[in-house]
Amino acid sequence: MEKYPGKKNTAVFISGRGSNLKSLIKHSKKKNSLIKIILVISNNPDAEGLKYASKSEIEIYGIKNKSNFENKSLKLLDKYNIDLICLAGFMKILSGNFIKKFSKPILNIHPSLLPKYKGLNTHERAIKNKDRFAGASIHKVTEKLDSGKIILQKKVKILKSDDVRSLEKKVLKIEHEIYPKAIDKFLTNL
Ligand code: GAR
Repeated sequence: MEKYPGKKNTAVFISGRGSNLKSLIKHSKKKNSLIKIILVISNNPDAEGLKYASKSEIEIYGIKNKSNFENKSLKLLDKYNIDLICLAGFMKILSGNFIKKFSKPILNIHPSLLPKYKGLNTHERAIKNKDRFAGASIHKVTEKLDSGKIILQKKVKILKSDDVRSLEKKVLKIEHEIYPKAIDKFLTNL
């Protein structure tokens, strides 16, 4: 049975700062949001974001990469009856086996206008290529890195004065705005 009727039991996976996690927690507390964040798992037990989540009514787990991360996570996802995983700054690649075993949707936020700049250092690459726009994308997670169906994207202009830091800041701001919207859009169209 769903713990919170009408809302999907959601787990968020993080690796560090957790600013997207914060925006998702804020969103999940709204009456009309479609998710309830039950569980936060990090592959980095020292992740800053875990401290924030622990202040809310959320179970938190830090599981080191080398200690059977995927199997331990699968057990927790089952225990808490999780319907949806949102990756939010989660820097570990999940295996095809994990995706298959979980068998429910996994979403990811990526700091580029996919299909451009899969992988790392997206802002650096956009500036180096003199792109006019950067942005963020929310997509479904499949076995192929950063390649699943795109749910929502938003662009920002790259100014001549932008460097990696200023661009990251601008993109992060739109990430916080569009991830909650993308989740609700995705769940509405299920
Ligand atoms: C965000 O910019 C997110 O898009 C990116 O890491 C940052 C995490 O920030 N994710 C990836 O690069 C995934 N490949 P946060 O921890 O403050 O949410």
